[in-house]
Amino acid sequence: MSTNSETPLPESLRLLVTGGAGFIGSNFVHHWCAAHPRDRVVVLDALTYAGNRDNLAALGDREQLRFVQGDIGDGERVAQLLEQEAITTVAHFAAESHVDRSILGPGAFIQTNVVGTFTLLEQFRQHWLAHNQPSSFRFLHVSTDEVYGSLGPDDPGFCETTPFAPNSPYSASKAGSDHLVRAYFHTYDLPTLITNCSNNYGPFHFPEKLIPLMIINMLLGKPLPVYGDGQNIRDWLYVEDHCRAIERVIQGGRAGETYNIGGNNEVKNIELVNTLCDLVDELAPDLPVRPPQNLIEFIKDRPGHDRRYAIDATKIQQQLGWEPQETLTTGLRKTVDWYLAHRDWWQPLLSEAYQDYYRQVYAGH
Ligand code: NAD
Ligand code: TYD
Repeated sequence: MSTNSETPLPESLRLLVTGGAGFIGSNFVHHWCAAHPRDRVVVLDALTYAGNRDNLAALGDREQLRFVQGDIGDGERVAQLLEQEAITTVAHFAAESHVDRSILGPGAFIQTNVVGTFTLLEQFRQHWLAHNQPSSFRFLHVSTDEVYGSLGPDDPGFCETTPFAPNSPYSASKAGSDHLVRAYFHTYDLPTLITNCSNNYGPFHFPEKLIPLMIINMLLGKPLPVYGDGQNIRDWLYVEDHCRAIERVIQGGRAGETYNIGGNNEVKNIELVNTLCDLVDELAPDLPVRPPQNLIEFIKDRPGHDRRYAIDATKIQQQLGWEPQETLTTGLRKTVDWYLAHRDWWQPLLSEAYQDYYRQVYAGH
């Protein structure tokens, strides 16, 4: 059995996007539909608390797009969809994605991220075998830089050969899924690709994550909870840049390879929160508390909190010609503008269930 990773892709793809109603997945669906109007795009999403049909509403009922509510762990459903839609390419975003929720309840992370990814992979392998192993098929697994663990202040950024050292149930479950995807290439020659990306931000980001949480709390005049000393460092990438990177990897990545994706925007949490305070203060009329910096509260640290992430994105830059288009300054401004203009999107997400979650994470601090 051999896979020729240089085989050009067919002119139009039939794409299955798992998790396409979540934050990055929905941005990717918007991007792909605009850039490739002749491709079929099928979204499979379980619509967990993080999935939202409204994220795709602006695409209307365009014919190229189909939405299916379903679980990647439902092998029969996945097999049926792969066959019925003659899928050639999987872009796998579906996951439980929030570290704080993985600390409260790791079970769902193992179920979706490990068992669900296994089920999807195995069904895609059967589909690929049934079609005589086309070398143009692709299974792209979207993963995170968190699988590499935590860096010291002077360490070089993570590269594709950095050993895995996950520290949270979330990152451990993603590392497990990355290993499965890798094994399916080496054992079965399935044409897989893996991307490990740094922290994303931008439109449709669920309110529990740092950047939307801070913007929304400023607009509501609520405390801005910063874990520990606020000196933890993350590398931030505007979500549209991530979507363009994934597009490049689907189009030109070599089967079996991993590509690290990062924004070259390392910043300490407290600096990021201060920048956001300045931006929201500038752009939002009638803030309940001004300056919003007065709302910052340092709270008890997250257990196992990784100190620093940084990405070395040389490989994708050199081999696929990708680099980010947004800087942190331009990307944050766009993001704050988006949250100001889309109160009707985020307000309903602050549901009773969300308030329960919020109390569980923040009440003890
Ligand atoms: P998200 O939590 O916003 O969205 C996840 C989506 O997956 C939701 O729509 C949810 O309904 C769906 N889903 C969950 N379980 C499912 C299941 N069993 N079957 C089908 N659908 C299911 O997550 P996100 O931030 O958009 O992240 C997407 C992917 O990118 C994840 O794999 C994540 O690990 C990875 N990633 C995220 C970041 C980031 O900063 N957000 C960075 C790097 C990598
Ligand atoms: P988050 O958006 O949860 O992403 P991740 O943990 O996957 O990197 O958090 C980004 C950083 O912000 C992380 O160092 C934890 C910190 N943080 C806070 O200080 N306060 C908060 O309320 C949240 C949600 C995160």
